[in-house]
Amino acid sequence: MKIELTKESRRSSIDFSNLPFGKNMSDHMLVCHFKNGQWQEAEIRPYGQLDFSYGLHALHYGQSAFEGMKAYRKEDGGVSIFRPLDNFARLNRSAERLMMPQIPKDLFMGGLKKLLEIDSDWVPDAEDHSLYIRPFLFASSEFIAARQSDDYTFCIITSPVGPYYSGTVKVKIEQEYTRATGGGIGFTKAAGNYGGSFYPTSKAIQEGYNQVIWTDHKEHKFIEESGTMNLMLLVGDTFLTPPLTDRILAGVTRRSIIHLIKDQGWSIQERPISVDEIVHAARDGELKEAFGMGTAAVVSQIDTLGYKGENFSIPVPVDGKAMYIKRMLNDIRMGRSDDKYDWMVDLSVSETA
Ligand code: COI
Repeated sequence: MKIELTKESRRSSIDFSNLPFGKNMSDHMLVCHFKNGQWQEAEIRPYGQLDFSYGLHALHYGQSAFEGMKAYRKEDGGVSIFRPLDNFARLNRSAERLMMPQIPKDLFMGGLKKLLEIDSDWVPDAEDHSLYIRPFLFASSEFIAARQSDDYTFCIITSPVGPYYSGTVKVKIEQEYTRATGGGIGFTKAAGNYGGSFYPTSKAIQEGYNQVIWTDHKEHKFIEESGTMNLMLLVGDTFLTPPLTDRILAGVTRRSIIHLIKDQGWSIQERPISVDEIVHAARDGELKEAFGMGTAAVVSQIDTLGYKGENFSIPVPVDGKAMYIKRMLNDIRMGRSDDKYDWMVDLSVSETA
């Protein structure tokens, strides 16, 4: 691996007490090109500009996918990454469906560890803060014929972040637009899945919500995801979350939270959830808590559910189950409780932020 270090770190110019999500990039990035059917030597270099012309294939046809994961500063000053192998596997599932090459494990994990060791002082140490890691793979031939690219580029950039949402969120059950269809690419982290969501989301924001709850593509009768997150509902004493299909992203946070819930002995069902069922539960006071689960926001409590112009309030207790789950996750990530599931991958660094 080639390594070129920055001549001047930008670290001291960043206000770590105010970290808007994804705004500040760390000093270095990883870049590796796939050409002539082969991965070339990876390079770590100062974060900077793209090297391509305007014919860049990914810009025209969206053959591009990304991942999101986080590294945490532990109480002992060390740095750990949360479940990176799960993100590695998911990026390769996205790559397969989008007809991009598989990324070798050594490139992903070796490059990631080296990059984070170099930029370890960019990992914040405050509660609910972390280093957001954005691996991405895109079509990088420079032609505009509508067929898959020949060349691809894999990169990792990182960004120190604070909480994604400043408080609880209001969501609208979407009745017009669709995030994903059967047989499509909803289960991948394709760039276009997000590009297509901005318009419906901005309409919901104009109506006073923060996000939409996506519903099924045929009749909008079943709940699917919550904005960029998976959705968890607590109805009575039972947690409910939609089962994974090819329209739903298999969230790493979702999988981890389901594991924690089962380990508490709490009741949970992964099954289709109709909009009617949820609206009734909200109306009858049976919907005790609702939250989004994702890498960026971790656990995001939902305080309002909007449906066909009517708003239902949902309790957002500070000492409820959503916040209990979030604390359990944070404790594992920050090294305050035992990593009994083997979720954390430690780096060899000792610096403190
Ligand atoms: C996540 O939270 O998992 C995301 O993908 C959010 C990202 C699009 C900002």
